[in-house]
Parts: sequence; C-alpha cells; structure tokens
Amino acid sequence: MDIIKIFDTTLRDGEQSPGVSLIPEEKLAIAQQLARMKVDVIEAGFPIASNGDFQSVKLIADNVRTVEIAGLARCNVKDIDRAWEALKGGENPRLHIFLATSPIHMKYKLKMTEEEVLERAVESVKYCSRYTSNIEFSAEDASRSEREFLYRLFEAVIKAGARVINIPDTVGYAVPLEFGLLIKDIRENVPNIDQVTLSVHCHNDLGLAVANSLAAIENGARQVEVAVNGIGERAGNTALEEVVMALRTRKDYYNLNISQDTTQIMRLSKMVSKLTGMPVQHNKAIVGKNAFLHESGIHQDGVIKERSTYEIMDAKSIGLEENTLVLGKHSGRHAFREYVKELGYELEEDTFEEVFNRFKELADKKKKLSSVDIEALINNEIYSVEAYYELEYVCVSTGNTVLPTATIKLKKEDQIMQVAACSGDGPIDATFKAINSVIGIDNIKLLSFKIDAITGGTDALGDVVIKLDIDGKTFIGHSAQPDITYASALAYLEAINRYISVSQQ
Ligand code: KIV
Ligand code: ZN
Repeated sequence: MDIIKIFDTTLRDGEQSPGVSLIPEEKLAIAQQLARMKVDVIEAGFPIASNGDFQSVKLIADNVRTVEIAGLARCNVKDIDRAWEALKGGENPRLHIFLATSPIHMKYKLKMTEEEVLERAVESVKYCSRYTSNIEFSAEDASRSEREFLYRLFEAVIKAGARVINIPDTVGYAVPLEFGLLIKDIRENVPNIDQVTLSVHCHNDLGLAVANSLAAIENGARQVEVAVNGIGERAGNTALEEVVMALRTRKDYYNLNISQDTTQIMRLSKMVSKLTGMPVQHNKAIVGKNAFLHESGIHQDGVIKERSTYEIMDAKSIGLEENTLVLGKHSGRHAFREYVKELGYELEEDTFEEVFNRFKELADKKKKLSSVDIEALINNEIYSVEAYYELEYVCVSTGNTVLPTATIKLKKEDQIMQVAACSGDGPIDATFKAINSVIGIDNIKLLSFKIDAITGGTDALGDVVIKLDIDGKTFIGHSAQPDITYASALAYLEAINRYISVSQQ
C-alpha cells in the first residue's frame, strides 16, 4: 500500500514567519506534540543560522527519538558540519541540503552557472555521505527552473547518494495542474528517480499550497513538507492539518495511507498558535474556531437529524471532543492527576504540584473548571521561561474618575524591588510602565496585545498574549488568569524574561 510521509517544517520554515521567534524549550514542546501526532519527519531548524537554532536542533535530536529529525544546511562544508554537529545524537537523523536551480536565482543570487550549481550540489551530497546516507536534496525555486537542467541535476545528486529529492515551489508561483505535471515529468525523465522518495514543499502566495501539494501527490510525490496552521515565510507553507485531513477524509479518492494520529491536531494547532503568537483565523479549514460550527437553522436541523448531512469530518477525529468531566474545588489530588493524564500530559512531580496548587486557587474563584481551563493552567506552567524577574504583587486603581495607577513589586533572585506607583492611560498601560521603571529597560515597544476569554461566562480565564519588540527582536509572553490585569503583567514579564534568557545564550 502506498504511504505518504509527512515532513513537518513548523520549527524551521514555520519559524521564518515574520515576528516569530521560539526558544529551544518551546521548540522541544512542539516537537514532542508533533511526535505524539506521529509525523514522519520533523525539520527542527537551520543550525548555522544562530546559536539558538543550533541548540534547538540538538535538544530535539537528543530527546525526540521516535521521529526522524532533520536539520537544514546550504551546500557548503561549514553549514553541513554545523548541521551534523547538532543532529548526530539523534536516531537516524536527516541532513537536508538545498541549492537554487532557477535561472533567476542562479544569475542574481548565487552568481553561478548551471555547471557550477550541478558540481556544487554533487560535491555537497558526497560530503554529507561521510556522516549519513539519510540525505535530502532540495532544488530551491524548482517550479521556476528549466526542466532539462532539473533532470540532469537530479540524476547526478541521486548517483552521489541523495535519498530524497525535494521539489519546492519556493515563491508560491505554481498552479495545481502545472505543478502536478512537473512531478510527472520528473518521474518520467530522471532515469534513477525510482531510487528516491520524491517530495514537495509548497508556499501559499497564491493560496494554492495545499492544492499544489495534493496535485503532486496524485502524480507520484510521496513526501509532503508542511507546517502547522500553514505558518511560514510570507503567506506561509502547506498546512499540515489540511493535507492530513484531505488524505484521510478522501481516502476513497486518493487511496493512500498516512500514519498520523489526527486526534492530536487540535492541541498541536493551539500550542503552535500560542507559542508563536499567531492567531488562527476563525474560518480556517480544520482548526478554525468556526470549522465545525453551524449557524444556519437549516444546517443545524440537518446535523441534528444526521451529522453527515452537513459535516464531512467528525470533530472528534481532530481531537475536538469536549471533555465532559468538570472539576471543582472539592476535586482531590487523585482525581486531578487522572484528569491531567486523560488530557494527554505527563507532568514531572514538582510541575504537577504547582499546577494542582494553581487549580485549587482557581477553583476557589470559579465554580466549575473545564478541560480548557485546566489546559490553560498546565500551559502556564510548562511553557513559562526562567523567571529572572518574578511578580510578587500588582495593585491597580482605576475608574472613570481616577487616574489609573499601578504599584508593582518584583523579585529578582532574593532581592525585592518595588516601585511606588506609576500612572498611565489605562490600568494596563500603568502596569507596564511600573514594570519598566522597576527593571530599568527602556527600549521596549509593545507590538501587539491580545486578550481572549477562555470558555464563556464572566468568570472565564482571561488569556493574554503579548508581543514586545526589544532591541529589534520580537518576544512573546502569555498567561491565563481570572484577573486580566494580573494576566497582562505576567505575560509582559514573561516576554521580558524571554528577552533576558535569549540575551544570555
Ligand atoms: O521554500 C524553499 O525553497 C525552502 C527550501 C529550503 C526547502 O524552504
Ligand atoms: Zn520554504
């Protein structure tokens, strides 16, 4: 039976989304969730790009052992050595090298001739094979490259030892029939193509990344490169959840197998959205808030009578099943532990204790806690960064007739730092100004501030995501608390702690 391999590049191309920057621990958390979903390959980063990228690839290769881990490199010795250094502790890691092959890229970017590009590609594949036989070669901008040159180059790199040949539509220029035909032509004109897996990597500039990837599959591609929620350079990459659910829902048409556990999709999507600070549009296919909602009375009536009248997928198949068990202040440690397990989390004992204490505090304020509330508490703990500054307390006075004023007390190691009071345009502005004046960093720019109510009701947790620009780089902070000023202060401080953590690397 034909199998399609899912190669996830959320942590490499996805992280190239403007304004996204993840620290190694966050990348590890996403990689672990990708492993739970059973993707076939995780591209963990581009190790030569920065120290942080190198650390992330190494951390993931050393710790996620059930999935093949790939690292990206250009076709030069320094890149390849650095990528291998990061990958070598993993189980059968993959070296992924790329070189541009289109006339535009060769002439203006590389300033190389076709013959020079071919020679460099072959030499680089041979250089990789001193480390591993698990080598993927990508012809950057393949969809705008000359066919005859691609055929010659692919034949040569396969002879040199490449195991996977990737055809990127780097600038999202291709359209489905044309892209499918390119894959067909490559299969028919490269004599040794049967020795490799043919892969595709599409960008979404014309909104066609998923359609192009599916057209390629119909024409013989057997690996698809994707990113969660379709994030990535410019308009993004092929959306993982859309390709996987298309192949699963339309198995009658494609007759192809995939190995993914689709019930992990929703959690993966939320995790990536939260950690990257990139919201998912409400009408986004599969994972958008509205994807399984029915507004029209006729549709609602149909679904009540028979779900398949207006639903082609079961919400449960992507993990959208609402956990009906509700916890409250009388729930004990044992019930809470079972609940956390049922949600799919394995927490270290001290993290569990922290989450349990937070749960008890929250249960005193809010009568019934659902799975969404509990996940928010767990996420507060497991995604928090090292606390260089801890919030001891925040006190805000505000109203329509008073000047909003905030008093803040922070702790740094064992030292308590306090500021008397700062006023601002509103309670949040006053709080952030007070934090700034305690820590003494003055080049902080607030890029975005988003607040959402988790579940309904006035006692819902306020989920705050903040993006800051500090020294020209973006840092994200988040927190979910019943008090939105407190949540905002915690999120703001988390982004600052993330900046300090990255500056110290
Ligand atoms: O879009 C692209 O061409 C890429 C390659 C590095 C695979 O991301
Ligand atoms: Zn790309």
